[in-house]
Amino acid sequence: MRDIKKVELHLHFEGAAPPAFIRGLAQEKNVDLSKIFREDGSYAYRDFSHFLQVYEAATSVLTGPEEFARLTRALLEESASHGVVYTEAFLSPDFCGGGDVAAWREYLAAIQEVADTAERDMGISLRGIVTCIRHFGPEQAKAVATCAAETASEWVVGFGMGGDEMMGAPSDFAWSFDCAREAGLAITTHAGEWGGAKSVRDSVEALRPARIGHGVQAIDDPELCDLLAERDIVLEVCPGSNVFLGVYPKLEAHPIQRLRDRGVKVTISTDDPPFFHTTMTREYENLSRVFGYDESDFADFANTALDAAFCDEATRDTIRERLTHE
Ligand code: HPA
Ligand code: ZN
Repeated sequence: MRDIKKVELHLHFEGAAPPAFIRGLAQEKNVDLSKIFREDGSYAYRDFSHFLQVYEAATSVLTGPEEFARLTRALLEESASHGVVYTEAFLSPDFCGGGDVAAWREYLAAIQEVADTAERDMGISLRGIVTCIRHFGPEQAKAVATCAAETASEWVVGFGMGGDEMMGAPSDFAWSFDCAREAGLAITTHAGEWGGAKSVRDSVEALRPARIGHGVQAIDDPELCDLLAERDIVLEVCPGSNVFLGVYPKLEAHPIQRLRDRGVKVTISTDDPPFFHTTMTREYENLSRVFGYDESDFADFANTALDAAFCDEATRDTIRERLTHE
C-alpha cells in the first residue's frame, strides 16, 4: 500500500505538523504548550471545536518563514514516504503574517524554495491553496483573499475555506471567493463535514466550488448527489479524519462507497494526519480492509484526484507520468 503512487488534495499545512516538531519548536522558544499534548506525545483534544483550539495553539510556535520552511520539508518527506507524488496543501495567511500581503510573500517564498528542492530530491510536487478560516469571519477572509489574489501563480493555484463550518453562512464569504476567482484561482471549500447536506448545497450555490472539502454529508440528499455528479464537483474525502472526529462512528458507516455508487467523484486525503493518527498508507489499508478496494479503485482515486488538481496542464502531464511509469 505504501508503494502505490498517490495524489492528495486535502492536507492542512499546520495540521500536518508532527507533535514532536511542534514540541521541539515550543522548547526552542520557551513556550509552554504542555496542555495540548498527551503523555504519549500525541495531540490532546476532546472534540472538533477543541481540536480547532489545539490546532491554533500549535500554530503559535510557527512564528516565521523559517518555521514554515522546516515544516514544509517535514511534511513533504512524510508524504513522499507514503507514495504521494503530488499534493495540494492549505496555507492560511492568518498563520503566515496575519493577512499582511508583504509578510505573506516572505512565507510563500520560503515555502516554495523548500518545495522546489523537494521536487528535485524526492519526486513529490506541492502546490498551495490559500485558505481562509471561517470562524475568523468574513472581514479577515477578505484580507486572506487579497493575499491569495496578489500571489496567484503556477504555485498558488487555489482558494479555499476551512475552520468551523457551523459559523456564519457561505454567502458571507462570497466577496472573498469572487476576488480569488477573478484572480484566476480555482475554488474549494470545506462543507458537509458537520453542517449536513444543506451546508454543501449552500456552498455550491454561493461559492461555486470545483471541489468540496469533505462533502460527505451530501449522501443524505440524493438530488444533491446528482447535482454534484452532473456538475463534476469532486469531493476531497478524508475517511480517517471523519471517523476519528466522530462524523461517522466507524469506517463501515462511512458513505464513501455510497457516494461513488451515485456517481459522485471522490478522492482520498488525510486532512491533518498526525492529529488523526493517519497517513495515506493507513487510509488505503483501512479502505482495502473495510470496502475491499483494490489496485483499480486506488488507481481510480489517484486519476480522479489528478484530473481535479488545480495545477497547470504541464504539471498534470508530469504527474500522470509519475503515476503510470514509476
Ligand atoms: N475541518 C475544518 N477545518 C480544519 C480542519 C478540518 O478537519 N483541519 C484544519 N482546519
Ligand atoms: Zn480539512
